[in-house]
Amino acid sequence: MEFFLDSANLKEIEEASSWGVIGGVTTNPSLMSKEKEPFNELVKGICSLVEGGPVSVEVLSTEAGGMVEEARRLAAIAPNIVVKIPMGGEGLKAVYELGRGEDKVRCNVTLVFSVNQALLAARAGAAYISPFIGRVDDIGWDGVGLVEEMVDVFEVQGLESRIIAASIRHPRHVHEVAAAGAHIATVPFSVLQQMAVHPLTDRGIEKFLADWGKSRSSESI
Ligand code: E4P
Repeated sequence: MEFFLDSANLKEIEEASSWGVIGGVTTNPSLMSKEKEPFNELVKGICSLVEGGPVSVEVLSTEAGGMVEEARRLAAIAPNIVVKIPMGGEGLKAVYELGRGEDKVRCNVTLVFSVNQALLAARAGAAYISPFIGRVDDIGWDGVGLVEEMVDVFEVQGLESRIIAASIRHPRHVHEVAAAGAHIATVPFSVLQQMAVHPLTDRGIEKFLADWGKSRSSESI
């Protein structure tokens, strides 16, 4: 399973990229609205930090024509842009249209909450499909279970769209969607940081350094 960073913050993206574990970035209008940089500059900055990895940026229009226009403008900003299109009839129309055009804009269908929505998105030509597992859990359903079903159905049907487990809220979500077969998990920076630590790791380092200090404190490596 690949990791994307779910963030529009340049510092977070730069730090996570330096760990060598991030293959792409996903943003959304809420994440964008937390940042201060002018929109185009911010998008260019993000795109330059991920070594050509896909950067999802979402349209704001709610009808297909507007989505297609915005998508083409976004795709012109950098070659690694993937346009995020909200699920629904208008969204599907836009994805289909964008896939047929000469420019072949890659789309990530977002706000997906059922296997049927994912099946439609795949047929319309989505490169990526984002089930929002945290928001599924919020309403008392099973977000990880949704990803599991989606992965199974896509395998049975031979569909090639990549499933991005999104709306990840904690580290346990990450290993559960990995076990469920998600192709990608897009994780907030705070969750990525939590994934890297363990109290026993910290305690182990402390003890090694203390033991070294007992007899070799005058030496360094
Ligand atoms: C992913 O593409 C979305 O930007 C994100 O994961 C949504 O997460 P939230 O439900 O925590 O807002």
